Amino acid sequence: MSEFEPKIVAFVCNWCTYAGADLTGTSRIKYSPYVRIIRLPCTGRIDFMLLLKAFAQGADGIIVSGCHPNDCHYTSGNFHARRRWIVFRSLLDFMGIDVRRIHFTWVSAAEGAKWADVVNSTVENIRELGPFQQYHLLQGAGIA
Ligand code: FES
Repeated sequence: MSEFEPKIVAFVCNWCTYAGADLTGTSRIKYSPYVRIIRLPCTGRIDFMLLLKAFAQGADGIIVSGCHPNDCHYTSGNFHARRRWIVFRSLLDFMGIDVRRIHFTWVSAAEGAKWADVVNSTVENIRELGPFQQYHLLQGAGIA
């Protein structure tokens, strides 16, 4: 039997995590190939409907990562994202979606090795959880 290959979507900010992921590559640090990166100006830009749509369209797990607190290029975007994440966790609970499917973290432009660790650990966690199978919840809520 072949091993489950999870599809992970990573929403990252341009200024820290995207540059950190780039450093991972230029440092030739290997990490799981099951992640697809979507670059945004700032984590403060993230509308959590984007995350639900990613699940609706086939993602098994999601990473949200931006600048460390007090390093946001737009001063406080990451604080807004963190506050929204706390509310969003409750919504996921209400919908019956396992919150462990979303990994929220900070990775700076100098943390290429950390980015590889975040991706690898997320892939392993999602492998343990198995494929996302709650499309009917999202479709019932009109998210597709
Ligand atoms: Fe990176 Fe705001 S610019 S989190």
